[in-house]
Amino acid sequence: SRSINLAVIPGDGIGQEVVAQGLKVLNAVLPEDVKLETKEYDLGARRWHRTGETLPDAELEALKQHDAILLGAIGDPSVPSGVLERGLLLKLRFAFDHFVNLRPSKLFPNTATPLAGRPEIDFVVVREGTEGPYTGNGGSLRTGTPAEVATEVSVNTAYGVERVVRDAFARAQARPRKKLTLVHKNNVLVFAGHLWKNTFDKVAAEYPDVATDYLHVDAATIFFVTQPERFDVIVTDNLFGDIITDLAAAVTGGIGLAASGNVNPTGEFPSMFEPVHGSAPDIAGQGKADPTATILSVALLLRHLGYEAEAARIEEAVSADLAERDGTARSTDAVGDALAGRVAG
Ligand code: IPM
Ligand code: MN
Repeated sequence: SRSINLAVIPGDGIGQEVVAQGLKVLNAVLPEDVKLETKEYDLGARRWHRTGETLPDAELEALKQHDAILLGAIGDPSVPSGVLERGLLLKLRFAFDHFVNLRPSKLFPNTATPLAGRPEIDFVVVREGTEGPYTGNGGSLRTGTPAEVATEVSVNTAYGVERVVRDAFARAQARPRKKLTLVHKNNVLVFAGHLWKNTFDKVAAEYPDVATDYLHVDAATIFFVTQPERFDVIVTDNLFGDIITDLAAAVTGGIGLAASGNVNPTGEFPSMFEPVHGSAPDIAGQGKADPTATILSVALLLRHLGYEAEAARIEEAVSADLAERDGTARSTDAVGDALAGRVAG
């Protein structure tokens, strides 16, 4: 019989609240013959305050044994900036080689967008997840003096760029429109830009049925707002991908709906699924966070593990639920109940 051995990291702030709803919907959608086992890991701000630890090696090892990880949110204003981000979230992405950071953007019916004319938006950003300026390859000289010099070097390897570009081409080929856009800044970042563009063009030759395009990242932000329908699949580096996916969320109903997967496509390590939003300490504990982004992340998790029908059921339930939303505020729990009810087979 089938089974899913899931690690759960609720984390900080609203992370706790939204993950509970994600699990509720996961339990409701799974067929009876699938045995779901979950183990919760107490990681994040409270743990750090209590013990000073972010992600001890023993827990990293334990997490490795799971089929996948569901994560709520990491970060709290009481912890110095960077401690949990580097010591926990990025540590997981690097240790588990999550080189595909998958961030779909879809404008669901009846969903608010600041864009005039409600264009069709249905694209996915394949953000590189293990390189770029996120590697911690930086330093500072004469720190704290008027002569301080700081560097934060963007690392781009032929191996790292090629594997994510290949993944993006395969994803583009599997979609009806078969279009892939490379987003970079090769008019200024000429070395990394050359590696990305050369790799992109080389792999493109193997995918003659995939239409290709290139945009500088600044121009891409214009098109996200003026012509988002031109995008199908986008591949880009870690930092550009971070920035443009927040913009993508903002034009497709807000960060409350944006799901993501930190994917290790080889299956060597567990992939990790999380809403794009953060811990939102300003509304934490009030039961009013929208759990939809986490629930859509559960759909990505299921698809990754091969449960395509269940993933689609969750996405259809979200679409139907959004179509019926009339602007009345609903609690975190109420949204979770509604979606669990809709997916229950
Ligand atoms: C995200 C976040 C993280 C990132 C932070 C919290 C390290 O902004 O998942 O997009 O920059 O990747
Ligand atoms: Mn971000």
